Amino acid sequence: MARKDRPRAGAAGAARFPGPMDTATFLRRHWQKRPLLVRGAFPAFEDPLAPGEVLALAASPDAESRIVRRDGPHWSVEHGPFARSRLARRPRRDWTVLVQDTNHFSASAAALLARFAFVPHARVDDLMVSYAVPGGTVGPHVDSYDVFLIQGRGRRRWQVSRSRDLAFVPGLDLRILARFEPEEEWVLEAGDMLYLPPEVAHYGIAETECLTWSVGFRAPSDQELAAGFLDYLGERLALAGRYADPGLAPARSPGRIPDALVAHVARTLSQVRARPGDALDFAGRFLTEPKAHVYFNLPPRPLSPARFCAAARRRGIRLDARARLLHARGRFFLNGEPVEAARGCAPWLRRLADSRTLASIAGAPAALADLAHRWYREGVLHLGEETKA
Ligand code: SIN
Ligand code: CO
Repeated sequence: MARKDRPRAGAAGAARFPGPMDTATFLRRHWQKRPLLVRGAFPAFEDPLAPGEVLALAASPDAESRIVRRDGPHWSVEHGPFARSRLARRPRRDWTVLVQDTNHFSASAAALLARFAFVPHARVDDLMVSYAVPGGTVGPHVDSYDVFLIQGRGRRRWQVSRSRDLAFVPGLDLRILARFEPEEEWVLEAGDMLYLPPEVAHYGIAETECLTWSVGFRAPSDQELAAGFLDYLGERLALAGRYADPGLAPARSPGRIPDALVAHVARTLSQVRARPGDALDFAGRFLTEPKAHVYFNLPPRPLSPARFCAAARRRGIRLDARARLLHARGRFFLNGEPVEAARGCAPWLRRLADSRTLASIAGAPAALADLAHRWYREGVLHLGEETKA
């Protein structure tokens, strides 16, 4: 490929671990192993969304939100969307609202999440935010996933414990630890970041009105993978046979399942096997499946293929924040489906999957422009920002 025809990523450069530690050292020493506090990980940190914008999302039916309240020993959790009047009349203490997937609604939130692309996209879930008034907390708990907790405006005290006492407060729709003995604690201020590996108990309490941003990860459980794979196989099975018993003898115990029928079941099940390539095909579909509530907005007046292509050469293209595009071993998957990539498209798609943007599609094969136009019409991809001359 000529140099000028090489796909160029958009503005998002290679992500490195925020703070003084280099990425490889962080991954080797801390990732999935031990907590790390990084003071000033994000100097002059600016919240991607202001509290009012977080509350507006909690009122929107498009976002997933929760309110957690503590009243002495009593806890309550409610799921959104919430009436704006209710959010406006929030208590002065001990109240938290949490909104998932803020990266779907705000370009700045998506940009903050992109700072963590030193972890593969397949492992990343979302950027959640919590807005809390003093005393606000979701209680001491453990998560099954790694998390980076980035403090926005205000202050939050975090306590952590490696204790294995995982008894929960009974009768709650929240998994709050019944016993929690902090081993370490820190008060985080704007731009500070705390990394926690899975299963480390933590308890964050707002010292002041505050925003906390959580980079959440996903790691499929083996049960989910196997159950999903059995569904996948089930949808693709095409077995021709059916049980038959032309030599049937009179039933002496009619309630008994005939041995021949049990043997037939065993023989049939032994024919259900994964083929080479199924694991990759299944993994690609499974890992790119959008969350249940995700939908894409179609462009109201889509450009023709020719006009889209001209604009995409000039402005580049970017994936919609909700789109999941992953690649492995030369195959591509978008939003739960494999992508038929025509000849010459692979380097461009790989770059798009890695960076989520392409600065231009000038020099790309026509098939890439056609594919991009189709995704644009489906609301999965957009033109890049118009840059001023
Ligand atoms: C919070 O922001 O209050 C909770 C985040 C977490 O514990 O993972
Ligand atoms: Co947590």
